[in-house]
This record gives sequence, C-alpha cells and structure tokens, in this order.
Amino acid sequence: MKIDRVWAVYFSPNGNTEKIIVAVADSLGKKLDAEVKRLDYTLPSVRNEINSFSKSDLVIWGTPVYAGRIPNKILPYIQNNFIGNDAMAVPIAVFGNRSYDDALIELRNVLESNGFHTIAGAGFAAKHAFSKVLSAGRPDKDDMDKAEVFSKGIADKVNMLNDIPKPISVKGNNPPTEYYKPKGLDGKPTVFLKAKPKTDHEKCNKCGICISSCPMGSINIEDSSEVTGICIKCHACVNKCPNNAKYFDDEAFLSHKMMLERDFMQRKEPEIFL
Ligand SMILES: Cc1cc2nc3c(=O)[nH]c(=O)nc-3n(C[C@H](O)[C@H](O)[C@H](O)COP(=O)(O)O)c2cc1C
Repeated sequence: MKIDRVWAVYFSPNGNTEKIIVAVADSLGKKLDAEVKRLDYTLPSVRNEINSFSKSDLVIWGTPVYAGRIPNKILPYIQNNFIGNDAMAVPIAVFGNRSYDDALIELRNVLESNGFHTIAGAGFAAKHAFSKVLSAGRPDKDDMDKAEVFSKGIADKVNMLNDIPKPISVKGNNPPTEYYKPKGLDGKPTVFLKAKPKTDHEKCNKCGICISSCPMGSINIEDSSEVTGICIKCHACVNKCPNNAKYFDDEAFLSHKMMLERDFMQRKEPEIFL
C-alpha cells in the first residue's frame, strides 16, 4: 500500500500523548518516505472543522485514557468530525499506569465506524496527570524504544498490505463496558465530578497560560481564578502553570490520587498489537 502522508492526530492537555504519537508518526514518515502532518485537537478552536482523509493517508491517533475510556466530552468530536474514506489508522491509548481498560478498543471501533481501517494498535503508559510521582518521567527512553519497534512493525505491515485489512484485534471488552469508577483510599467509589482547580493568588502572576491551555476554554479570560465552564480534570492548568499557582483541594479527588499513588506504582509496560 502506497502511503503519501502520515498524520499525527491527538488530544494531549499535558503533552505526553503528543510525545508518543509524534514519535511514531515521525518515524513512519521516514520509513515510508511520506510527508508527516499534525492535527492537534486539544484546544476548542480546532474542534469545529470536519476532517477528511484518503486512501493514501496513514493516521496515528492518540487519546489519553480518562476513566478507562476516551475522554467523554471529546468523544462526540471524534465520532462526528472525521471522515476516513478508507485511510489506514493506528489507535493508541495513553494511560497513567493504572489501566487503559476499554479506551483502545473504543478508539478502534470509532475509527472503523468513521471509515478508517485500523492496522495496528497500542497502549502506552505515561505520567499520570493527577500526580507528580505516578509514572513520573514517562514516556522514557525504554518507552520511546518500544515506540520505534512499534513503528517498524507498522511500516512492515503497510508495505505488505495490498487489500483492505480486517480491524486490528486489541485488548478490551467489546462493546466497551462502563467507565471506570474512581476509588478512594478506603477502596470505596468516590465522586469528584464537580471539583474545579483553585488558584493561589500569592503565586499567580496572571500570565494567562492556564486560560490558553484549557481544552474546554473554561477559564475566564478576565479572571483566571474563575472557572466558568466545564472542568474535565485534565490538569493542564495545574501542570502548565509556571508558578504552581493552580491546585485541586477536593477531598474525594485527593483520596483517589493517593489511592493511585499507593496501589499503581508498579511499572506497566507498553502493549502493542500488530
Ligand atoms: C480525568 C482523568 C482520568 C484519568 N483516568 C485514567 C485511567 O482510567 N487509567 C489510567 O491509567 N490513567 C488515567 N488517567 C491518566 C491519563 O491517562 C494520563 O495522565 C495521560 O497520559 C495524560 O495524557 P496527556 O499528557 O497527553 O494529557 C486519567 C487522567 C485524567 C486527567
């Protein structure tokens, strides 16, 4: 199969999904002698257009895993704004060392429904957005080496293809089951849907980075301490603030974060499906 363009398509509030997807796409561009293009749909301003692909496109598609699935507020955009037109695609779920649960199979299914043909898939662990210690420093060199092995496997597969392939088999329940329910330190389900980031006014110098990096456009342009819209808890504002002025103090959320840091510290390796 002749590929003219390799696409890196991703949602990445904290930049780790982007790192993995761009590495795989860049490597494939070289191996397949194809142009590499990016579609970063993290910010709301990008999510209005309809994007059409063609048979000579190979799309490396990354989603972070939220509650074991594709972030639910972003899912309608993926379902409604992409037309595959028989392009090849590689779904990749990037998770914070707990589990990618059904996110990978969900992304595979959505891409297939949109007219893409999935030829490979993977789950890669990365730093958990909630924590400074859980999966810290990942993706690291070992992860990037695995990404390179994965790219080689994808390139070999593309070069051998001469017909439309069957959807790639990946791990997960099909159809995907319910969203993961966060648990607290006591092991019981805990709910923090209404939690929003707070601002330490002594540290905030009103640089506006939190406003421009919020993927829901939910922080008031006039007053960055005010969250006027929906908060998906992505932590872009917390992790990108140069002065550490943003934080969550919701007790249920903190209990969940501490449970993750207690129970999910053991390294999970990338899983690749070819
Ligand atoms: C709201 C939310 C829910 C999450 N749920 C899960 C999860 O169910 N399993 C998991 O392993 N990691 C989970 N994570 C961690 C993210 O998958 C991880 O931080 C991701 O790599 C972040 O991608 P980014 O750096 O591109 O923003 C969650 C993170 C957030 C913000």
